[in-house]
This record gives sequence, C-alpha cells and structure tokens, in this order.
Amino acid sequence: MNRTGPDVNRSGASLDELVALSLDALAAGRAARPGPVPAGDPAEVARAVDAALGGDALPQHGVGEASALTDLVTAVAAGAADPADPRCAAHLHCPPLPVAVAADLAASALNQSLDSWDQAPAATELEDRVVRALAALAGFPSGTGVVTTGGTASTYTALMLARDAAPAPVRFYASELAHFSVDRAATLLGLPAPVLVPVDAQHRMDAEFLRRTLVAAPVGERPVVVATAGTTDFGSIDPLRPLAEAAHAAGGWLHVDAAYGGGALFSDALAPLLDGLDLADSVSLDLHKLGWQPAAAGVLLTRTQEAFRPLERRAVYLNPADDEAAGYTSLLGKSLRTTRRADVLKIAVTLRALGRAGLGERVDACAALARHAAQRVRSSQALELTAEPVLTTVVFRYRPQHPDADGLNARLRRRLLREGRAVVGRTESGGRVQLKLTLLNPEATPADVDALLDLVVEAGDAELALLDGQAQA
Ligand SMILES: Cc1ncc(COP(=O)(O)O)c(C=O)c1O
Repeated sequence: MNRTGPDVNRSGASLDELVALSLDALAAGRAARPGPVPAGDPAEVARAVDAALGGDALPQHGVGEASALTDLVTAVAAGAADPADPRCAAHLHCPPLPVAVAADLAASALNQSLDSWDQAPAATELEDRVVRALAALAGFPSGTGVVTTGGTASTYTALMLARDAAPAPVRFYASELAHFSVDRAATLLGLPAPVLVPVDAQHRMDAEFLRRTLVAAPVGERPVVVATAGTTDFGSIDPLRPLAEAAHAAGGWLHVDAAYGGGALFSDALAPLLDGLDLADSVSLDLHKLGWQPAAAGVLLTRTQEAFRPLERRAVYLNPADDEAAGYTSLLGKSLRTTRRADVLKIAVTLRALGRAGLGERVDACAALARHAAQRVRSSQALELTAEPVLTTVVFRYRPQHPDADGLNARLRRRLLREGRAVVGRTESGGRVQLKLTLLNPEATPADVDALLDLVVEAGDAELALLDGQAQA
C-alpha cells in the first residue's frame, strides 16, 4: 500500500506495516486451524478468546498496536468458520474475493460517509452509477437503489417504502418459506403479521392461491406481496410474473427478496429463472451471497426514482436545499442510516474486475457443484435427497428411515462441528430435520463435494454406532 495514502495512524505504526502484520496473523491463525472450523465445544472457543484478550477486553493501559493486532487477528482466524474451505458449506456465507477485500480495506482507510456529498464526493457518484447498473440488470432501466447492510435491511426498507407510498392500510403477503425478516419487518413497521401463502411441491409460492386471496381481500386494503427469488433452504424461485400480475391487479406492490437468487442475473443459464423480476416495484439483492463480497454488500433496487420519496429528509447540516440545487447531491434520502460507509467501492471494483460474465461463471460453477452433490446423494445408500437443487443448495437426510432420524441428523452435524471437520447446514422441512449444503465456493471441486458428503456419512455412522451401543447396554 502507498505510504503517501491517508495517514490513519499518526500515533503509531504505518498502515502498510499494520496490514503486513495483519496478513501474517491471518496466515498464522489459519495454519493453527486444521479444518474449516475450530475443533472443540463452544467453551473451548471461549477459553481461546479469553486467552487472546488476556482476560480483559478493555485494559486500563493498552498492550500496543502490534501485539493487540497480532494476538486478536490470530485468535479470530484460528477460531473462524472459514467460508473459503470447501468443507464449510452451511450458510449463504461466501468466500470473499481478494480484490473485494482489498477494496474494502481502501474503503475503511478512506472512511467516506455517504450521508452527505462533502463527506464522500466521488463515492456518492460511484454509488449512483453502481445502483443504476444493477437496477438495469434487474430490468429497471429508469430505476435506482441504495447499498444496504443486507437482505434484512433491504426488505425492511422496501416494505417501509411500500407502506408509506400507500394512502390505504397495507397488508403483507408472503410465502410460508419467505425469510423471517419479512415477518420481523411487519412487526417493526407496526403492521399485522404477513398473510402466509402456501407453496407448491417445488417450494414456490402458489400464485393462484394468492390471486384468489387478493380478490377476496377487504376493500380499501392495499396488498404488498413479498416474493422470494431464491429461498434460503431450497433456492426455489416464486413465479414472479403471475405474482406481479396478481399484486398489481389488486392495486398493490410487489417486492422481490432476491437476496440469494439475484445472483442468477449474472448467469445466462440461470437468469431466465427470474422471469418477471422487471415487473417488481422493489428488489433486494445481496452481493455478500452470490457476489463474493465481504459483508456487508446488500442492495435495494426500485423500479422508479420516486419510490424513495417517503425516506427523504432535509437535515440542514447535511443536505441544505441550496447545496442540492447547486449540484451537491446527497444520498441521505435513500437510506435508513445516516453515517454510511462506502461499501459500494468493493462492489464497483468487483463488477469492473470480473464483469457480468466473470460473476456468471462463478454462479454457474456453484450451481454445477450443487447438481453434482445432488447426484452423489441420490447414489448413496445412506443419504436421501429431499429436493432437486434450483440454485446452489442441496437439502438431504442421513438414513431417513431410522426411527430417530431427526436426532441422528442433528447429532451428526454437531459431531462434525465439534471435531472441526465440516460445517454442514441444518434446517427443517416437512416437520423433519434436514441437512443442507450451501455451495458458494466456485473454487471447490466435485471431489471436494464428494469428500464432504463422505464426512457426513462417516459422522452419521459414528452416531449410529453410539446409538446401537446404548441400545445394547
Ligand atoms: C432469502 C433471504 N432473504 C434475506 C436474507 C437476509 O439477508 P442478510 O443476512 O443479508 O440480512 C437471507 C439470509 O440468508 C435470505 O436467505
């Protein structure tokens, strides 16, 4: 890093010295962890953290920059769940691109704040260009958007905009598989819980059920329909076109939670799954999922510029009207936050470095890994596939016929964690405990996936042997 860059550390070592130390500590921490997650139970991890802190998170006198940085970065890396390890495949938790991490460091060093032009001149312009490009990709040629902390914040903000755009009382509708943040947004907005719409056998919202429900809804109520493009567990994509038609026929708003599935827009092969997205009023898209950004890199997109109007505020110290009239634009009116870091920088660098095609190749690679995993599960005597993959998740069970299959699946997953060997997802569907792989690592190979599934079966067999031993005792 250029020593003539911003001097963030006048009193101590230079940024380039500290970055070098930090990179060394990252490597040392990783080397100390043989698997994708630290072995041991939560108490052991807690002891390691206490040891690194010397038992005191706020000492009276500091231990010095080098030692604090080295000790804590090493400890957190050693105790990390590492999304870059192919055996870490539980959540929508991606390995970040090094170029995005480097850009994020620059964003921290520059410490721009997007609530006023005079705290972020170039970053303000950059965010405008990036959200417009992503809006166009989603099918909103005159659209706009804002960078958020993630899908939760994007959906909350969108639902607030939808509520405040309506003169009538609103009612939310979402599928029973919608992300829990939709229900939480309703609570935060002081609205009744969403009406839950059933899903079909492919885990997609039943559009005909929604249409009939909206036709029968109380007169004067405005529906706000939340469709999901990429459900958290199954990656299923609600039928966006008929949902948009049903919502709009009833005078309502369609928000699409594409936090996960929005990444399909980068892929020529998968983008058709999002047919009808361009009919939505707002869309959430998370680039810290299928976009390989370090968190946070959420984006809320709207079809029109006017959609953000309910959020606009005039703060005389941030966006005085005459400054704005003179061309000093402020993004204050786009966000629920005031101080807001330039997360857009890493996103912009990534989009420019890889292009849509480069990101699309990564999405396709993960989808191919999911298809491979499904095939491997299908051919295993010990595993059963719960659903065909749509995007990059695979839901399955170990020995589903066993009388205690739920307990067995739950315990085998904890065994893998405790032994530090693998991080496998767990969810429930059809009232049964399920295992899940969320494959977001395009550098992983089919052989890595096979090895991970072998670990699952091995851990299951070990738990089964324990159960059998207990039964005989
Ligand atoms: C479908 C869906 N929507 C929203 C979210 C929330 O996103 P975030 O964690 O970025 O707030 C998730 C998280 O996994 C998700 O799967």
